Amino acid sequence: MTTVPINDLSRWDSSELNELSTQIRRVLKSGHFMLGSNTEALETHLGERLGGRKVVCVGNGTDAINIAFAGLGLQPGDKVATVANAGGYATGVLLRLQCIPIFVDIDPNTAQISVASFKQTVFLHPDLKAVVVTHLYGLMADIDSICDIAHKNNIQVVEDCAQAIGASLDLIEAGAWGDVSTFSFYPTKNLGCLGDGGAVAFRDPTHADLARRIAQYGWSERYTISENNGFNTRIDEIQAAILLARAKSLNQNNEKRRTIVRAYAASLPDKYSLVWKDDLSYVGHLAVLICPDRKNVQSVLHQHEIGHGVHYPISDHQQPAWKSLFKETTLPNTEALVNSIITIPCFPSMRESEIHQVCAALSDL
Ligand SMILES: Cc1ncc(COP(=O)(O)O)c(C=O)c1O
Repeated sequence: MTTVPINDLSRWDSSELNELSTQIRRVLKSGHFMLGSNTEALETHLGERLGGRKVVCVGNGTDAINIAFAGLGLQPGDKVATVANAGGYATGVLLRLQCIPIFVDIDPNTAQISVASFKQTVFLHPDLKAVVVTHLYGLMADIDSICDIAHKNNIQVVEDCAQAIGASLDLIEAGAWGDVSTFSFYPTKNLGCLGDGGAVAFRDPTHADLARRIAQYGWSERYTISENNGFNTRIDEIQAAILLARAKSLNQNNEKRRTIVRAYAASLPDKYSLVWKDDLSYVGHLAVLICPDRKNVQSVLHQHEIGHGVHYPISDHQQPAWKSLFKETTLPNTEALVNSIITIPCFPSMRESEIHQVCAALSDL
């Protein structure tokens, strides 16, 4: 028996390897490495996928969140609702911008933001300026209901689509529902580059224009600084060219991920569940099990040589760096789920034998 890795980015299809090598050589020969035709084409491609949004490519998914908030004009002291089980990316940016994260509990079955808890948060904080909806593990949250409540209350919706690119609900993609959406192209993402990359997609083009200035030193034109919160966050031409090439197989790879999770669901004893849906609103970024007896499941996976992990082991309000800020916060569903989740292997280049090996381990639980 060989170990099934939780992910393996070293497995290349030879045609993809050739295609990416060609793209890299093309950029090398052009001598144009930043802000060129590949970045422009990637922004257009993403914008079209998202029903005509204005897209600004940036350096990574964390900068994308930063630029999204800046483009919406959030100010220090503004309250923003977010979940506490999504890795802390949005919370970290909010704290750095001196905004106030207001944590919303999750739905215990889907691990996504709870609509009921969001409703309550809106009631308790009538001055809420925005809500971050993270489509966690590649499963779309109930974005329709959240947008409905938010927009009735003048709250802007930020979709964090780092884990959900290509997912769709009622034929509308994740990222085309809210006021702004953010993406990460970190190599393990469903659409990954060979380094860092990210993007922000705005509904309002004037927000995108402001974001573009902030993403490049605050320049309105070369060497003219018109925004006082500018910094530098850009994607490079090689990564943009790679993403454009890989975007062609995104839907097919998302389908492969769903097929893997479908096989897991069929092998899983009733006592356990998976965070997924067997439709296009789930793109299998991570295969996450919910198990009341995590230690036992970890030990069975270990015996069957199945790689596993926890996404994420500490909720934001309990992180060592932040917990003193959130002493009053209690999030029963979040706190319970953090202790009962396990991530198991799911990536498009998984071999049939590996999928069977995972299924056999699940059947043995
Ligand atoms: C949900 C979510 N948001 C934001 C990020 C941050 O993206 P990056 O690592 O590209 O900064 C990630 C991934 O790492 C993520 O999973």
